[in-house]
Amino acid sequence: MFMRTPSALRLTWLRGDRHGLRRLLPGILVAIGAGLLFCLFAVPQLARFRFRAGLSKYDLGFYGFGPSQSFVSFDEESRIIEISPANAQCDPRYTFIAPRGDSVAHAGPMILDAQGELVWAKYNWGTTQDFKVQRFQGQDYVTYWQGDEEDGHGRGSWYMLDSTYTIRYIVSPVGLEGDLHDFVITSNDTALVTIYDPIPADLTAVGGPELGWLYDGVFQEIDIATGELLFEWRSSDFYPPESSYYPLNDRGHERTLGYDYYHMNSIDKDDQGRYLVSGRHTHTVTCVDGTTGQILWTLGGKHNDFHDESDGAATDFNWQHDARWQSPNSITLLNNNANGEDGSSRDTVGLFIELDIPARQAKVRTTYVHPQGLMATSQGNLQVLDTGNVLVGWGHSAAFTEYTAEGEIVCDVHFGASAYFTFGRIVSYRSFKGDWVGRPNTLPDAAIADDSIFVSWNGATEIVTWCLEAWDGESLDNVTFTTVDQVERTGFETRIPIPPSITSYFRVSAMNIEGEVLGTTETLSLGSPSSRSSYVSIRSWGVIIIAIFALGCLLFGCFCAVSRVWRRRRPRSGGSYQLVGHKEHDDNESENGRLPI
Ligand SMILES: *[C@@H]1O[C@H](CO)[C@@H](O)[C@H](O)[C@H]1NC(C)=O
Ligand SMILES: *[C@@H]1O[C@H](CO)[C@@H](O)[C@H](O)[C@H]1NC(C)=O
Repeated sequence: MFMRTPSALRLTWLRGDRHGLRRLLPGILVAIGAGLLFCLFAVPQLARFRFRAGLSKYDLGFYGFGPSQSFVSFDEESRIIEISPANAQCDPRYTFIAPRGDSVAHAGPMILDAQGELVWAKYNWGTTQDFKVQRFQGQDYVTYWQGDEEDGHGRGSWYMLDSTYTIRYIVSPVGLEGDLHDFVITSNDTALVTIYDPIPADLTAVGGPELGWLYDGVFQEIDIATGELLFEWRSSDFYPPESSYYPLNDRGHERTLGYDYYHMNSIDKDDQGRYLVSGRHTHTVTCVDGTTGQILWTLGGKHNDFHDESDGAATDFNWQHDARWQSPNSITLLNNNANGEDGSSRDTVGLFIELDIPARQAKVRTTYVHPQGLMATSQGNLQVLDTGNVLVGWGHSAAFTEYTAEGEIVCDVHFGASAYFTFGRIVSYRSFKGDWVGRPNTLPDAAIADDSIFVSWNGATEIVTWCLEAWDGESLDNVTFTTVDQVERTGFETRIPIPPSITSYFRVSAMNIEGEVLGTTETLSLGSPSSRSSYVSIRSWGVIIIAIFALGCLLFGCFCAVSRVWRRRRPRSGGSYQLVGHKEHDDNESENGRLPI
């Protein structure tokens, strides 16, 4: 008995060790698993954040990824933008964007004024791209592409809306499906459109099948009024698959999953009838003869014809967008310098390139750089304004920046929090500035909330004052209104406190600077509740209830888990205590011989 005690003690120690290990093991496994998952999923995500010193609250996401604002009298939301610097003298004209992404409830075309106030918003099915003002037959139209985006290009049509926002023309390519990338109305009232046409091709040169498929980069020039096809050009007639920088991956085996080797994303034409085509995946800008369709020259990529006078800056652009003529011997483009989300952090820049075409020399005149080094992993554009200033739309990054011609920043506008730009929660393919007069053929909207009348008129650009008119209370057979208040328009929606003189029926008229009535709301009465505001509050209450329910579930789940662990642990600690007792009991047993069970 005396001799046995140390060995028994040692045995208990050993056993205790093994128990400790067994108890630690799950913890170690969980830590390893969590660590691995963290490295696999969280670290790449964290690397995608673009936190920088000096980001504003807006850019850090204090107001959301893509801050928005809702209205009482109008259903669609507007974007809340941030303009910097605070005293920026931005171009005073309207901004045309088509925001989309997870942070945009209703995607569609949108006009904002220079202060970022909503002017017009439309909710479109599918995807809306490339929203801008263009001139056709001496009149301004807002144009956009609408359709379904798939596999990096689109199936849809181009829409032309007049100043009343009525669709006047729908343009589609002749005999082929329309793509979303570009729609340019020329000074001859013709349309240039891009097309992604799947064609059979031998892809062995890029490691693909001999009987494979590629997306041919096609553009057409169409007479808008008659729909007649005037010109067609195909990249595959001149550029083989191996001129591409785009990885083949598993593409090229099926018609619907063709190899997107060229990726035509802009088409322009100058007064001399020369086309300018951008092929993103070949890193080329190509000048095409307007009559023969022959290539006159290629800038960039594997077929570059130019000697670079700026150490590669003029010809080494890659994954570029929006190549435009600026004169017979100068072009602009956006050098994206990035493709997709490969994680590398490279800056996108706008380029103004001067060409000596006979000598085949190219030189960068100006580079447009963003101070925060924005990266447009896709999309984007560069517009030279008629003031000479330059507007760069950062595409996948929800921002646009105005520069002087020399490249100094005039005004930087964000419509999403820049720390999360890589996630693409809100993007606009392109951003434009332009003049616009909107005279909608709808009625102005009004709704009552908080003892006030809220009025707005989606798309109207000429309202200066709102005029509140009340029923004179004389006779219901002949309802006549008298003006009781005039309020200056304050942004998209104007709030008019209900004056005591309004007892029942009223209406609100929109007036221009000359005091002429542009339009009048329906007749409303104080009794009628505002259905729209109640809808909004029901919706937000729904969200709050769901959030509370989710939080409850989470807390209850945690409580259950913790209490289960607790319950398990208590009997085990008691058990180990008893085990020693049991052990001693066992020893006694062996001494006394086996006891009946
Ligand atoms: C417009 O038409 C004229 C005459 O056919 C032609 O010379 C010119 O190049 C055309 N311009 C554009 C931009 O198509
Ligand atoms: C309605 O009332 C106005 C002014 O009170 C009067 O000028 C107008 O003639 C009336 N119209 C009818 C149809 O009674």
